[in-house]
This record gives sequence, structure tokens and C-alpha cells, in this order.
Amino acid sequence: MSYTPVDYNPYDFANRRHIGPSPAEMEEMLKVVGVKTLDELIDQTVPASIRQSIPLGWAPLSEHELLARMRAVGARNRVMTSLIGQGYYGTVTPPAIQRNILENPAWYTAYTPYQPEIAQGRLEALLNYQTMIADLTGLPVANASLLDEATAAAEAMAMAERVAKSKAKGFFVDHGCHPQTVEVIRTRAVPLGIEVIVGDPAKMEPEKLFGAILQYPGTYGHVTDFTKEIAALHAAKAVAVVATDLLALTILKEPGAMGADIAIGSSQRFGVPMGYGGPHAAFMSCKDDYKRSMPGRIVGVSIDARGNKAYRLSLQTREQHIRREKATSNVCTAQALLAVMASFYAVFHGPKGLRAIAERVHFLTNRLARALKAAGAKVSPKAFFDTITVEVGVGQAGILAAARHEGLNFRKIGSDRVGISLDETTDEKVLIRVLRAFGIEGVPPHRATLGFPEDMVRQSDYLTHPVFHMNRAESEMMRYMRRLSDRDLALDRAMIPLGSCTMKLNAAAEMMPITWPEFGSLHPFAPADQAAGYREAIEDLTAKLCEVTGYDAFSMQPNSGAQGEYAGLLTIQAYHRARGEGHRNICLIPVSAHGTNPASAQMAGMQVVVVKSAPNGDVDLEDFRQRAEEAGENLAACMITYPSTHGVFEETVREICKITHDFGGQVYLDGANMNALVGLVKPGEIGSDVSHLNLHKTFAIPHGGGGPGMGPIGVKAHLAPYLPGHPETGGHAGVGPQNANYAGPVSAAPYGSASILLISWAYCLMMGGAGLTQATRVAILNANYIAARLKGAYPILFMGNKGRVAHECILDTRPFAEVGVTVDDIAKRLIDNGFHAPTMSWPVAGTLMVEPTESETKAEIDRFITALMAIRAEIEAVEKGEISAEDSPLRHAPHTVEDLVADWTRKYPREQGCFPPGAFRVDKYWPPVGRVDNVHGDRNLICICPPVESYAQAAE
Ligand SMILES: Cc1ncc(COP(=O)(O)O)c(C=O)c1O
Repeated sequence: MSYTPVDYNPYDFANRRHIGPSPAEMEEMLKVVGVKTLDELIDQTVPASIRQSIPLGWAPLSEHELLARMRAVGARNRVMTSLIGQGYYGTVTPPAIQRNILENPAWYTAYTPYQPEIAQGRLEALLNYQTMIADLTGLPVANASLLDEATAAAEAMAMAERVAKSKAKGFFVDHGCHPQTVEVIRTRAVPLGIEVIVGDPAKMEPEKLFGAILQYPGTYGHVTDFTKEIAALHAAKAVAVVATDLLALTILKEPGAMGADIAIGSSQRFGVPMGYGGPHAAFMSCKDDYKRSMPGRIVGVSIDARGNKAYRLSLQTREQHIRREKATSNVCTAQALLAVMASFYAVFHGPKGLRAIAERVHFLTNRLARALKAAGAKVSPKAFFDTITVEVGVGQAGILAAARHEGLNFRKIGSDRVGISLDETTDEKVLIRVLRAFGIEGVPPHRATLGFPEDMVRQSDYLTHPVFHMNRAESEMMRYMRRLSDRDLALDRAMIPLGSCTMKLNAAAEMMPITWPEFGSLHPFAPADQAAGYREAIEDLTAKLCEVTGYDAFSMQPNSGAQGEYAGLLTIQAYHRARGEGHRNICLIPVSAHGTNPASAQMAGMQVVVVKSAPNGDVDLEDFRQRAEEAGENLAACMITYPSTHGVFEETVREICKITHDFGGQVYLDGANMNALVGLVKPGEIGSDVSHLNLHKTFAIPHGGGGPGMGPIGVKAHLAPYLPGHPETGGHAGVGPQNANYAGPVSAAPYGSASILLISWAYCLMMGGAGLTQATRVAILNANYIAARLKGAYPILFMGNKGRVAHECILDTRPFAEVGVTVDDIAKRLIDNGFHAPTMSWPVAGTLMVEPTESETKAEIDRFITALMAIRAEIEAVEKGEISAEDSPLRHAPHTVEDLVADWTRKYPREQGCFPPGAFRVDKYWPPVGRVDNVHGDRNLICICPPVESYAQAAE
């Protein structure tokens, strides 16, 4: 038999792997849509006037070639033992956590747990996280993560201003805070009119303050009991924030015991690699009185329809999607996956294990200090946990070089000191190398003496909940992680058709490099010559993003889309200031905008003016013009989303940009919908000045159950000089926007969560320019296919003038309310069919916004359509009066195994309830809880692990 070669191109990642429908399936889909070719559909969908003329240029790599390239780039990084500290420490990720969580799509491809019934696993892990934070900090309420330590500190300042009874305008910042924390606070303070006073806490003047942030262990190692300072702040009705370190708190007196109101910090050293800056979960906890002012997500405990315990996100009315510019913060994407990792690290080690790690680190530091002192070195501070500094005078360069010769990075402090922070990975061999760098041979013996006063020893218990005391055999750990992930519906089970969230494939090859030590073990402030690989990756990714967007420069600092918005607006303000137009402060935002837009504008100190929508969903051009005219010389910016949040390519986008520019404003184009543009339209060519890209949407970073994300901002050349600076990258140190023209830093690390930039870079490299463009085209095809198939059953809101949607479509479910069927009923019923609900009630209340992305196959999309058709038939039964909405499977959804096995008293068959069309029979997804009672959860807020007895009660 003669051999026939198959038509298989290893470079064809775009078509064979990332893009769901096969060419033959696409043919069938195009027929349903009613066009002959994909080109024809794109021509009908994307206005010719905005299309880019030059296609994206670069060639694709095969998976194999990509991984080889990544190895070569990784090898250009030089991994040294970084003892720099300053908020980032070596840590050992337990392999069981690396493999079962960080490298497990069941965890990393999940979405933010807005639909609690399909998210009980990650909600439990996040509740464990909150319990861990509340216990270790000694404060009763904790949130489920913030973006990084520095932004958590800035959030705490804003929160302190909200809750403080003092009306003073000053906020005191301990000079012992990490420098990046100080700078991010400064950035945040300026637009809010807060006066930041940096200094020695002993000299604080509380009557001038509404709050203060004090840090222990300090950036130079000081362990201080702030009880007195906190009492003084309270006497002046000011709020006390404490920045601290979780590992230290296992042996040091906790902030709660000092009277602190709010505690913040990073949970990085609980098993999350440094990753050249991130991602890591920052934490925040507070006193009970302040919980309603807390930023970020809070997981709470509620009950389901059967009265069983169920977890959910609580107090959501604080958040940006409801409160908009009055929200407690703009936080949307946070750091869920990293919080989950940190919580498992605590479960894995338990309180005794954590304490043992802390003691080991502390006693090694103690031995180091003794050895240095014995050799005559000037070592400070007197009271320390894991960090000391050594006065080395003019010998600084020599000591740093000797350390490097030993494979070590010390921290350079001023011109005459070095800092050394030890961590979990430090052992006696490292100690010997450290001492050799000072010319000292050998180490002193272990002596269990404390390096801080006895009255700083922690007196209270922590992590007493049984979850932190389970049998820690790896079998048990592995099964616990598996049990939790089995409760959840992530992309590894089914399509997640969330409009605006772009839940696309996160390919395995893209994910692999992030756990390689050559990327994971780099300290963000390591000398630049050790990060040549990262530099190459970041520069090439920047070049590709510039090509994709038509912008001229990027800042990789923002850790989420919302942070990108904030950073972009600060950049615009800095530009206006530099031109002597600092008075411009009005920001026009369409009513349909995502809640983060107004929340970010508020954080940037801008006045939000809302612009109406026209009946077809477009921005109302006349209203826009009028608002711009009214703003006149005070117009700072407009924020638009393109294609619009309604999923339409508005023909008027150039006009909107022009009006804004005519009145001297700048255009911020929210890049959340970039998945409809890549390769077809460049925002920078249609009049926009700045955009963030949600790399965790369009550029394949997984959503992690609510983060990580990255929201880098691209700008046109005229804004480039004003992009956020950073104290560690030179030039911008010590100056904030008050006395310089550029925006101050918005993140703790210069390149934000640098390690996950590798995912987006890998995605771009493997897809190639043509592959990325094809992805956009197929995303548009998939959405239009859904719209075409469903339009008879559900009204489709907002189509372009040729009857096409962009990469998502809105199903109008409001008409069903007349017979009592709500959008919630449909969303929950989809769970029975084995699907995550589409985006609910945004941008239009009572509707569902569906975004399939290019990665879904026709078969999966058809399964989804089958499910929605079956739901429509159930609604019709209600409409015809065959069954009431209350008695229907829609209202009882989702159905659990308990429903299946309980006495069946429902007015519809068990089969219909539990196995509706679209649901798999063998691989059926069973939600672990029935419909969750939201009101109960908010009325009875519990946001730490409930006592075990309550589980027993619930089961009774
Ligand atoms: C239109 C739009 N803008 C901004 C954001 C905020 O992005 P992030 O969640 O990364 O902060 C989102 C998130 O869903 C969005 O859909």
C-alpha cells in the first residue's frame, strides 16, 4: 500500500488546537448564519471604515518550537538566591499544590464564583484563605484577596478615609513600609486630596490624621509593638492600618492584639513563587465594624434551597458592578488562584508546620546576626524576625559583588548598607555563603534565643479550625483538592459562555513555562542583568501588542483590567497637567459601561458624567456631544468600550473620538472586548489614545477562579512619557504625580504579575499574526451562529445595521418575567444542563450576554443551544399555563443528587428535572448545593470557616 501523507502542519496551532470549530464545521455554521464565506460575515459585521489595512505579520511557532524557545529565553535569566526581601521571599511550593492546583485546569480555568452553585469548591478554598488571614492577623473579617501588597495598602488608606471619624486630611505612612508601598500610596493619595506624611511612627501627630499605616516587620527588619501608637490614633478618632507578614505572625504578636483596625500584606511566601513580581495574593482583614467598607470580594456562608450550608460571594452591593463610582474600590479581577494556593499551603503545613518554618527562618537569622556581630559588623535592628541590615560603608559595592560571586542577591540600601532577608528555602549552606560574602568562615551553633522581646511573642492560637488539622498524608491532601475541584464547573468540563469575560482556551503549552524555576524564582528587584530572559519576553510581547493595537508604548504594571483603567486615567491626567491643563477633570462614561470604568474614574479623582444609550444600544451621539460641550475645557477623557458592551461595532466610534479630541479630552478605550478586534481593527488607528488589554481574556491567561489577571495599558506616543513610573526601575523613585508629570506607580512590581505575561507571549507566538486574526474571525462566527440559531426562541438585543452581532450576543429574557420566569431561573437551569450561565443582567438588567469565544467547538456550542432551546420549551409550558413558574423545573433549578434521591413530589418528571437535554448522562455535572439564598447570606454574614458542628446541624 502506498503511503499518503496527511495534511497536518505542526505549525497549525491556530486551526488544530486553539480554534474550536473544524473547517468543515465552520462551513456548516456559515450556512446557518446565511453567508457564503467567513470574509463575507466579517465584512457585514466589522465596518469597513475602521478595518486595519495591514495584516498582523509574525509567523507561528509549533508547540514544540515554543517550548524550546521558552527554554532558551528562560536560560537567559540567571536564578540566584535572592535575599532581597522587601515583600518577596523564597518559598517552597509543595509539589502536591503545584501539580493539583497551579497546574490543574480544574482550578485555573474556573471563573469568578458569581454562580455559587457551581463554585462551592473554590469558595471553600477561599473561605479557608479568609479564615487563615483573619486568624493570623487577629482580626475577624478578611477578604478573598487583593492585587498586591502595595495596592492593598492604598486600598486600606481609602478605606480608612471612608470609616474614620476624624475629618483630618492626613495619612501617615511609616518609613518602615516597603518603598513600593509608600510610592503606590502616594499615587493613590494625590487624586483623592489626601496628604501623605512619611516618617517615624514615634513622631506621628495623630490629630492631623484620619489614619496611618505602620509596618512590622519593617522593610529593614524592625519588629515593633505598635500598641501605643495605635491607641494614640484611636484617641484622635483615626484608623490604624498595619502592614505585616503572615509567616512572622505565626510567632509574633498579631495586629489585632495591638488594637489595629485593618491589616494588609502579601501571602506570596505561603507557597507562591516570586515570579519576577507576581502574581500573588495580597490580603486584607479588618474589625467587624468596617466590613461593609471593605474593598474586594468576600466569601460568606449561606444556605441553599434545602437549608444546607452553601458558600457564596457576600455583600456584593459594595462592589463596582452595583455601586459604580460609589463602590468601595474598582477591584473586579483579584488573585483567587494564588489565594487558593496560599490557603492550601496553610492546610498542608498546619499551624505547627507554619510555626516550625517561621522559627527555622528566625533562628537562622539570629545565627547570622550573631556571626556578623561577632566579626565586628554593625547589624540592625535590635528586634527582628527574618531581616537584618548591615552597615558596610564604602565597602557596599564589594560586599554586593562578593554576594553575587556566592550566587546571592543582597538588598542595596542607600550607599552604605545592605539588607538580608532569609526565608523558608534558607539552610545552613546558604548561611555559610552569606557569611563568606563578608569574609567570615563558618556559622555559630544553633541557640534557641529570640531576636525580639518576649512581649512580642504571640500569645493567641491560630488556625484552630479542623481544616487546618486534617491528616496531612499526601493522599488525603490530594483527595481534598480533588473533592473541591470536583464541586466546580470550570472550562475543563464545559463551555463558559460569559459575555465580556472571554473564557477561551488556556493551552497547556502556554501554561508550562510559568512553573519553571528560571521564571518562577526571580525576585522582582533582582539586578537587571539577571533578568535578560524576562526582558526579551516583555519587549517582544510589547512589540506584538503594539502591532495588534496600533499603540506606540505599553506599561505592563497594572495587575487587572480595572487597574489598567486607573493607570490609563492617571496617565491622561499627567498629560493634561504637563500641558498646563490640570484642571480637566470630567470623564464621560456611557451608561452601559462596565462598573469598573466609573469606579476607576472616581479613584483617579475625576468627575463622572454619564452619557445615555440610544435605543439600538449605541452611545447616544447627540447626548455625548452635548455632555462634551458642557464639560468644555474641563473635559479630561471619555471611556468607551469597543465593540460596545452591547456587543456591537458602533459605526460612530470615530465620531465619538473626534468630539472628545475637539474638546481637548483623551479617549480611553476599554479593551475588554479586544477579542473582537485583534487582527481586524487597531484601537490606536480609530482615534483612541489609551486602552488596557485584559490579558486574562483575549490573550489566554486563565481566569483562575477570579484572578490572576493582567491589564497592561497601551498608549499613543504623546502619552508615553506619562505612563506609570516605578521606584525600582530608576528615574521615578521618590517622586509622585504631585511633583512630576508622569503617573506614579500603580503596582508593587515594575511589570506587575510578570510571570503570567509569559502565557500571553506564548499565545501570540504560537498563533502567529494570521492565527490571532483567525481567532477573532471565528469568535465572531461562533457568536453569530448562536444568535442565528436562537433568534426565533429568544429576542436578540442590539445587532449592527446588517443584523450581525460582534463576538457576543445578548439574549433578552425580560419578556418571560411576565409569567414569573426570571433571568436567574434560566441561569440556574443551565447548571442542570451542565453549563455555566452567561453573564447575567449586564449590560442590560434581566438579560443574558453570551460570548462563546473561538475556542469552542460546534458540538459544544450546539449542546449549549440544545440546552437553551429546552429551557425555552419549559418557559413556554409556563406561558401556556401548563405549569406555574414556582412549580417548574426552572424555579427548582439547579437539581442536586439529594433532589434526585429524595421523595419526588415535583410537578414534572424526575428525568426532566435532573437530566434535561444537553446534560451528559454518564458525565453529568451535579452541583453540590441547590439554589443559594443570597439574602440569608448577607443578613447573617459569616466569612470565616463555620465551626464543624454547624456542618453536622446542616446535614440533620
Ligand atoms: C468591559 C469591561 N471592562 C473592564 C473590566 C475589568 O477588568 P478586570 O476584571 O480585569 O479588572 C471588565 C471585566 O470583566 C469588563 O468586562
